[in-house]
Amino acid sequence: MKFQLKSDSISNLSADIIILAINENNKLCSSLNLDKSFQDKVDSIIKLDDLSKSIASVSISHINSNYKRLGLVRVQNQNDISREDVLKSATNIIRSIKSIKCSTIVLPLCQFSNKKINEGFASKLFTRAAIDGLYEINSLKSDKKVLNKQYQIIFQANKPDNAAIKSEIKEGQAIAEGANLTKDLGNLPPNICTPTYLANQSKKIAKDYKMKSTILNLKQIQQLKMGSFLSVAKGSREEPKFIIMEHKKGKKSEKPIVLVGKGITFDSGGISLKPGAAMDEMKYDMCGAATVLGVMKTIGQLNLPLNVVGLIPACENMPDGIAVKPGDIVKSMSGKTIEILNTDAEGRLILCDALTYAERYKPDTVIDIATLTGACVIALGHHASAVFSENDALANDLLKAGNESIDKAWRMPLWEEYQPLLNSNFADIANIGGRAAGSITAACFLSRFTKKYTWAHIDIAGTAWNSGSNKGATGRPVSLLSQFLIHKTKKLN
Ligand code: BES
Ligand code: MN
Ligand code: ZN
Repeated sequence: MKFQLKSDSISNLSADIIILAINENNKLCSSLNLDKSFQDKVDSIIKLDDLSKSIASVSISHINSNYKRLGLVRVQNQNDISREDVLKSATNIIRSIKSIKCSTIVLPLCQFSNKKINEGFASKLFTRAAIDGLYEINSLKSDKKVLNKQYQIIFQANKPDNAAIKSEIKEGQAIAEGANLTKDLGNLPPNICTPTYLANQSKKIAKDYKMKSTILNLKQIQQLKMGSFLSVAKGSREEPKFIIMEHKKGKKSEKPIVLVGKGITFDSGGISLKPGAAMDEMKYDMCGAATVLGVMKTIGQLNLPLNVVGLIPACENMPDGIAVKPGDIVKSMSGKTIEILNTDAEGRLILCDALTYAERYKPDTVIDIATLTGACVIALGHHASAVFSENDALANDLLKAGNESIDKAWRMPLWEEYQPLLNSNFADIANIGGRAAGSITAACFLSRFTKKYTWAHIDIAGTAWNSGSNKGATGRPVSLLSQFLIHKTKKLN
């Protein structure tokens, strides 16, 4: 897909389709400056009044001019257009173009900008939607829907602040391509996407973007005394891997931001076996890891001047004769002992050792991303990821990045009052806290291992994938985290 920015007038450009936005009163944006004959043609189509009133709906008509087709998209009055509207319109436009013979698209940006949205921001959302909308899951289907069309999207801007818009397009592209990698990894079946497969992916990204990738094998994980992580991996024939990625493009003196991703490539529950229904979806239990890899790809592509470390504990959670059992007590890398009362609460067991490992970077900030609890889905559903942090500034920065990138998150409490739910009679801490506040007690468990740095936890159990007929990974929260990191570079400059 190619993206271009042009400042020629609309009558001097040509394409398979031009996209025009009409508001609820059937009016076009006043700053379009269409020439008379083209305006007349457009008016005659608008008069037919085929377009639904619902926001972001699209209708396509043939038109005989320097554009073969006209795509009309319904928007609010220009001042009221929201970011969500722009993203939804963009997604619908791309979907409707996918099935017709159109590969060059002209999109005047002025129509989607107002006080809250500048043209650069609109171009970024369109770029993301275009790459996201053309994503197909077919690597394992014999009948591949190959997209042999080479799309070319021409953003038209009247008075282009060229450099600024171009950099937003570049950011949008990098974010969407990172998110597509996250989707690809999530969607792969668990017999292919194993810990070793994730490790190889990290090596590939490191090679493509001049990062460092180190993979620790079983023996090396044992030497680090990651007893909690190892207890989860024990029941599986797949070798666990501890994946380390280092993107060092910031100042040497700058402390890194560490991203930690839960990499359970299949969560059967272990001896505390899950029920059978929808158990296949537990292949998505590595979406935290896939998010870290997707974000590393995005920041590599943008060559962000930051120091970022990615850490991924990766293994399967399986039942076996030597698998960890309810009642077992293990010793984590931190030295704390953990009573495992439910082997299905395994995410926190692999993350706690990775969080301890993160200490060696003397990090500025550590953020872990995990499909951690079913309780999170009950609390927030599928629209918002849950953010937990004792640090208000960090929590607010994450929420802000989520709002700006339309990859929303909502803050949950992480108060001391919840901590006693994790008391154990036999060890320093239990791995479950009972039915109440399940996503909070999971975060409380992790918080015990993060006292040496500023930390946030993002539970993506409800947002990482869709179930049902459009089952598939969403690529969330790659946009949120990428935007968070992009904000960091802007603060430094
Ligand atoms: N990977 C699951 C969480 C999950 C479940 C995410 C369903 C998305 C959908 C996690 O490992 C798990 O099994 N958590 C348990 C914890 C419980 C045993 C305290 C849960 O949520 O049921
Ligand atoms: Mn589990
Ligand atoms: Zn899990």
